[in-house]
Amino acid sequence: MQSTHNLLLLKAIKKEPVHRTPIWIMRQAGRYLPEYITTKNKAGGFINLIRNPELACEITLQPLQRYNLDAAILFSDILVISDLLGMKLRFEENKGPIFDKTICSQKDLNTMTDVEDVDKLDYVFNTIKLLKNELYGKKPLIGFIGSPWTVATYLIEGNSSKKFSKVMLMVNEDETLMHNILNILTTASIAYLKKQIEAGIDVAMIFDTWGSLLKNELYEKFSLNYVRKIREALAYTNVPIIYYVRQTSEKINILKNLDVDVLGLDSTSDIGVIKKVIGNKYALQGNLDVNILKEEEKIIVKKVDETLKKYNSKTGHIFNLGTGITPDIDPNKVKLLIDILADISPKYNVK
Ligand code: CP3
Repeated sequence: MQSTHNLLLLKAIKKEPVHRTPIWIMRQAGRYLPEYITTKNKAGGFINLIRNPELACEITLQPLQRYNLDAAILFSDILVISDLLGMKLRFEENKGPIFDKTICSQKDLNTMTDVEDVDKLDYVFNTIKLLKNELYGKKPLIGFIGSPWTVATYLIEGNSSKKFSKVMLMVNEDETLMHNILNILTTASIAYLKKQIEAGIDVAMIFDTWGSLLKNELYEKFSLNYVRKIREALAYTNVPIIYYVRQTSEKINILKNLDVDVLGLDSTSDIGVIKKVIGNKYALQGNLDVNILKEEEKIIVKKVDETLKKYNSKTGHIFNLGTGITPDIDPNKVKLLIDILADISPKYNVK
């Protein structure tokens, strides 16, 4: 198999010089693409796609067939890890993930014994193997997990709650139970991510979307400490790690000491300010606001240029949006974004 080490994304992660800024897009395979909708409807829903390696592989590759993206990201979801806990996940159209039974007590946790039995997630590892074959060293493959905290918010709330009242109540009133849940999820996450690495992913991303709910010490205690445990357990591998959290700016003084290869930024954060704090410690990913893709070309050019100018360094930038791409984006605007970046980013990179 051809080596992937000299690909643009991996060079940018290592802060090596590149001739243009690499780009991939969170949720690049998804509902804004008509071919995704067609395959999903044929399969009978999202969960049927992610549990079927041939279909998950096909969907992962759809955006790469359309666009000159610099990475593929495994088509799956952070919540499939619930299979290791024996919790039944379903997705409802326009509602998102639903767990009919949630974690409310220590009793619920006591039933979770074989959380490292990762064979239950064989469909994910088989997708990775199919993808590695297809990508054949041409594009790197990003695998991922959710942070224990972010996954726990769904297991406790049972759905895409926008209020997070149950999980915040647990943080405030039953710290022990909260830590017990996070410990189990950390054990499961380590086993799961190790197996993704064994199956062939080139980069591992940790999505800590809802780390944004916690401030300062609470963020350290309930989210970051468990991310650190995962990081430590992966010290044996040189697969790089991207860590993403919303409200990145607010947390930058804690994050500046985090041992990761890349920090993913949300769109509310100023990449220039963050770059000044981080210096050359690790690469940065982001962070165009997805809504800019609803604007005309002139505005997109201006905003892309602004992002590159603010970053103001020749190495270590991976272009992305600050959140996942939404179903209301015109696929032609994604092509436009990629073309604009290819056009203007060389002047910010090494000749
Ligand atoms: O980025 C990628 O393309 C890789 C695949 C991927 C998905 N979800 C596919 C998906 C990844 C990395 C995720 C991560 C994920 N999943 C996160 C963290 C990142 C983030 O978006 O904040 C979270 C919180 C989830 C949980 C989840 N999955 C929710 C809340 C929802 C419903 C709401 C929504 O955003 O659509 C999903 C569904 C989901 N995951 C879809 C896709 C393509 C939509 C499925 C569909 O209805 O067709």
